[in-house]
Amino acid sequence: MKTAVCPGSFDPVTKGHLDIIRRASKLFDRVIVVVLQNTAKTSTFSLQERVHFIEESTKDIENVTVDSYDGLLMDFCRIHNAVAVVKGLRAVSDFEYEFQMSLINKELNPEIETVFINTAQEYMFLSSSVVREVASFGGDVSRFVPEPISAEITEKLVKGGEK
Ligand code: PNS
Repeated sequence: MKTAVCPGSFDPVTKGHLDIIRRASKLFDRVIVVVLQNTAKTSTFSLQERVHFIEESTKDIENVTVDSYDGLLMDFCRIHNAVAVVKGLRAVSDFEYEFQMSLINKELNPEIETVFINTAQEYMFLSSSVVREVASFGGDVSRFVPEPISAEITEKLVKGGEK
């Protein structure tokens, strides 16, 4: 059984992320989506909220599970016997950072491959930060985030902006 890990901060998960998770689920027997800490970012949503949003969005994909981990991605992969990490690439601007990460991860665990999946053209512009910005000003994010969590995300971000 070949297991892949889709890591990210998912703050919150977007339709672009979901597209990558769905496509990865067709390439591997099992996909674990893991919410990790990105030390360069401060999260808007709690870890529990981010995991919940992904669980709600991936309910219909049989071979996908969701987890969180407070540590190195490569340690998580080792614990779960994963053979690959799957990441989406939107544009050249993503490449340098993702390439560097993949090289560091290779140093940490040479057994794991990083597989990049090109983002679908319709999601090239999309990011979690765009979703947060639009929703915090009361804009409609339903076309950016998975349908089951759209209302919940909007409510939380609009409320947060009112404080
Ligand atoms: O969605 P993001 O923010 O681009 O995801 C980045 C993430 C969370 C995958 C990355 O920061 C990560 O792997 N964090 C866990 C710690 C780790 O293993 N870092 C890589 C070696 S420095």
